[in-house]
Amino acid sequence: MISAVFNFPKGFLWGTATAAYQVEGNNQNTNWFQWEQQGHIINNQKCGMACDWGSGRWREDFDRAAETSQNTHRFSIEWSRIQPTPDVWDENAIEIYREMARGLRKRGMIPMVTLHHFTDPLWLVEMGGWENPDVINKFTIFTEKVVEALKEYVDLWVTINEPNVYTAMGYLMGIFPPGVKDPFRAYKVIINMVSAHAAAYETIHNVQSKASVGMAINYRSFVPARKWMPLDKWIANFQSRNYNNMFADPPLNGYLKYLMLSKKVSKAKGTQDYLGINYYSRDLVKFSPFNFGGFFANRSSNPDAELSENEFIANEPLGFFESFKWALKYHIPIYVTENGIEDAQDKLRPRYIIEHIHQMWKAVNFSWPIKGYYHWTLVDNFEWERGWTQRFGLWALEPKTQIRRKRPSADLYASICKSNALSSEAVDKFAPEIFGQIFPK
Ligand code: BGC
Repeated sequence: MISAVFNFPKGFLWGTATAAYQVEGNNQNTNWFQWEQQGHIINNQKCGMACDWGSGRWREDFDRAAETSQNTHRFSIEWSRIQPTPDVWDENAIEIYREMARGLRKRGMIPMVTLHHFTDPLWLVEMGGWENPDVINKFTIFTEKVVEALKEYVDLWVTINEPNVYTAMGYLMGIFPPGVKDPFRAYKVIINMVSAHAAAYETIHNVQSKASVGMAINYRSFVPARKWMPLDKWIANFQSRNYNNMFADPPLNGYLKYLMLSKKVSKAKGTQDYLGINYYSRDLVKFSPFNFGGFFANRSSNPDAELSENEFIANEPLGFFESFKWALKYHIPIYVTENGIEDAQDKLRPRYIIEHIHQMWKAVNFSWPIKGYYHWTLVDNFEWERGWTQRFGLWALEPKTQIRRKRPSADLYASICKSNALSSEAVDKFAPEIFGQIFPK
């Protein structure tokens, strides 16, 4: 057997990512809680107590992360918890987030904190949510409050998680609240999100000059389904521009491009210290002139790619490499803020982890500026409209009993985090079936 080690640079960050609503439980003051009550989740499921971090189980889960050699963790703040109504701050709730950030530092882990991860307080929804430009000011005030409270422990910030998913799912496809399918309303939300990000960036830097601030963009690779067909190529580029670049570009050049529109957003220019990439998979795209809802494209998975348990994710590590190539044009450091797969049986996950980290290693060896990797996720959690039907955790969770069970992938990931490297030994132990592919003779 070949013996080899793919090393990562000293100081590389290895961790997992979580989001408040998905792990805390009982966040009744949000639009997602309301959305669940209206029966929008698969099989009418509910988030319930999630991973019970609300009662303090984050402590044992942070222990799990630290014991498996993770040196960072990304978590988010539930806006509705710390600001239950526009003029009330819940200081106890803020103190808990301080304790969590401190808890990570005590365990030798660097906290990365997300300010907005999909959920909105009900009072914000009542005032029109992200369609109302007043949200910019409200988000800025909330940001300042959080940063003032956590600045002692945190200097790595994500303003908004996947604004492209938030707008696509909530305002174009109607799958997330508020369940709208309207490109004009989506445009309003997009403009306000870009402006709120820019304002939050400035606010964070005013409070903490050394802060590192970015957005986490859901990057999807779009590949023309028929190589010979120019219209497939054109639509793949069009989709990529709209999905991947829409929020990443304004901080680069001060322009927001949406469909055929272009709007100057000068305040956004220069408001990105790093680019956060959430990568899961890629799509084949076929031009389809009558598919208005799909913006003139039919998307499908590559028939040669392995699919996850619920066929939600195609294992496409090359798309991960493409995401780094794409990110280079921003000339800023890159963090992989999410990457993972749903797999209750942990059959495909070890392979998925190895193949993706291998692609990331290649990019790092081109001296591309990748600084860290956050696996999605630590413990099985509530997966939005897909409820509990998808299991992304390194640890399995039985939500009723709150019993956690370590999956083999947790040990694989621990070996990578511990050695800051992917070794032939780990590949042989956790995914021997791809040994020859990773280490060709
Ligand atoms: C989101 C996470 C989600 C994950 C897997 C990402 O788009 O940021 O909140 O759980 O995908 O579904």
